[in-house]
Amino acid sequence: MRKKIAAGNWKMFKSVKEARDFFREWETLVANAAVKEGAVLAKDPAHAVSGAPGAPIAKKQSPEVIIFPSSILLTTVADATLDMDVEFGPQNIGWQQEGAFTGETSAVTAKEIGATFALIGHSERRSLFHEADEMIAKKVAFAESIGLVPMLCVGETLEEREKGQTEKVVAQQLKAGLSQLAIPHANLHGHGVVPTEDPNHIPFVIAYEPVWAIGTGKVATPEQAETVHTFLREQLKALRGSQADSVPILYGGSVKPDNAVILAQRKNIDGFLVGGASLKPSDFLAIANAL
Ligand code: PGA
Repeated sequence: MRKKIAAGNWKMFKSVKEARDFFREWETLVANAAVKEGAVLAKDPAHAVSGAPGAPIAKKQSPEVIIFPSSILLTTVADATLDMDVEFGPQNIGWQQEGAFTGETSAVTAKEIGATFALIGHSERRSLFHEADEMIAKKVAFAESIGLVPMLCVGETLEEREKGQTEKVVAQQLKAGLSQLAIPHANLHGHGVVPTEDPNHIPFVIAYEPVWAIGTGKVATPEQAETVHTFLREQLKALRGSQADSVPILYGGSVKPDNAVILAQRKNIDGFLVGGASLKPSDFLAIANAL
């Protein structure tokens, strides 16, 4: 079964104090949730969701929770999450080990601090900072090469959707973004996964974020999202062979506690990338618990 993921993109929000307060509140909420039956993100990993009396206990897998803070908050988040089941990573990285790249965030140093994921190719990076597919591909490959799991964002603008270009746009962004990643050996021949590969290992994550839904309050309908996710999974299979099966595809764009429940029911939606609603612990926890 594919890993479920609740990822929070804090963008350029939160002071050091606000970041610390977030995790203090998060910890309390998670601890309280643990005593309530059915809470998914309980502290006790053996926690289970119970069914009818006497029925076998069905375990619901806890989602992986990831926070992408602004780079200046990475150390604060590393300290605050030390004893928590929360992963974190930068919102952007440089594509080289080190060098003359003023203003860039070092992936190597982020990893040293404890980051495990890296957000790459977010639509704000593409539109405001002119990141092109070629640069994004280098970042994806570099993250992977140093052991950070890249989360590649793809998504169409409203104009592209209205012109019927959604599939063309996301297919191109996906293909280009993954173009510099080595294909696992066994997949070249179309046979199963590489024998040494850990079945729980996530090679990379895809986040489908329609640009028209980001920060607008206009969420894609479950049908719209599912259609694109199904398409992306087919594309991934064609590009990556059986490795595609272990790649979670997240939906992002105005995800809130109330719409997360119906979106999460869709077969090909493996989690969420959440902006605004990830700034509030109770909202983000509700979204994570919808998975
Ligand atoms: P939003 O942002 O949830 O505020 O729409 C999503 C994102 O930009 O990742």
